[in-house]
Amino acid sequence: MNNSSEAREAVAGRRKFCVVGQPISHSKSPQIHQAFGEQLGIPLSYERLEVAAGNLREAIKTFRARNGRGLNVTIPLKEEAFALADEKTARAGAAGAANTLWFTDDGRTVADNTDGAGLVRDLEVNHGFLLSSKRVLVLGAGGAARGVIPALLERNPLGLWVSNRTMSRAKELQDFFAAQSALQVCPWGQLPEIFPDLIVNATSLSLSGGVPGLCLPTDCDALTCYDMAYADVDTAFVSWAKSAGVVRAFDGLGMLVEQAAEAFYQWHGRRPETQTIIAALRSERHGGALQ
Ligand code: ATR
Repeated sequence: MNNSSEAREAVAGRRKFCVVGQPISHSKSPQIHQAFGEQLGIPLSYERLEVAAGNLREAIKTFRARNGRGLNVTIPLKEEAFALADEKTARAGAAGAANTLWFTDDGRTVADNTDGAGLVRDLEVNHGFLLSSKRVLVLGAGGAARGVIPALLERNPLGLWVSNRTMSRAKELQDFFAAQSALQVCPWGQLPEIFPDLIVNATSLSLSGGVPGLCLPTDCDALTCYDMAYADVDTAFVSWAKSAGVVRAFDGLGMLVEQAAEAFYQWHGRRPETQTIIAALRSERHGGALQ
């Protein structure tokens, strides 16, 4: 963006936001935040910025110099975002990872994590899957998994297992959450001894078309599978689950909109309605357009 378009934005009273990560070109966050802003009459601009691991601090500095007010953070920067923030909300602190940043008037950077709230709301409100007394298997032990585990634990599941290709990372998570709960570790490629009600894919496998090497039983009617990734067609994980006979297999589009609504609330103090945006994004996939 050049100086004259930035000057026009300032005159129009538009507050400036962005999403950072790598890859980033597929991100639907700009559409979602623009739609929230239109819904609530809040003028804003929102752009995608490609930022590689290790470069977040510099990217934030540049964005702030352009009067940027806040950032959403995605793969692979969530732990980096947490580490460089001056202040952390309780839920970001609980996760040790951040997906939302903003700046205070005295120049401090605040980090929040809205992923867990977004996932729980999508599961419980949008899909009617209540976590209380359920057994949950989380695949992955990176920033994405960290971000959602505290919110999952708050819903009092009967058990929560973490399974990760690199076992030491799963054990790190187990230690990190030890004070809060007895998180259990399950070897990669295996199911817990007690069959789960929900499998959440928090790995980046779907981004490369990969699937977990798990063998599901033929009768898994009661199982729900949830991919935190989303795409314009079924993600690799959703396709894998469906082909194994899982009827309730969802991607992360609803979570994306719900975590964005939480971030929007932090930035603007107003909570947007999400259902119409989720419906519009789903219909856009089938040839419609986001209103
Ligand atoms: P994020 O912050 O999005 O979680 P990350 O920290 O790079 O990103 O974590 C990516 C997760 O996907 C990790 O759990 C990773 O497993 P490892 O810890 O073993 O690296 C998992 N992952 C990525 N590619 C994978 C693959 N091909 N098979 C299995 N797991 C994979």
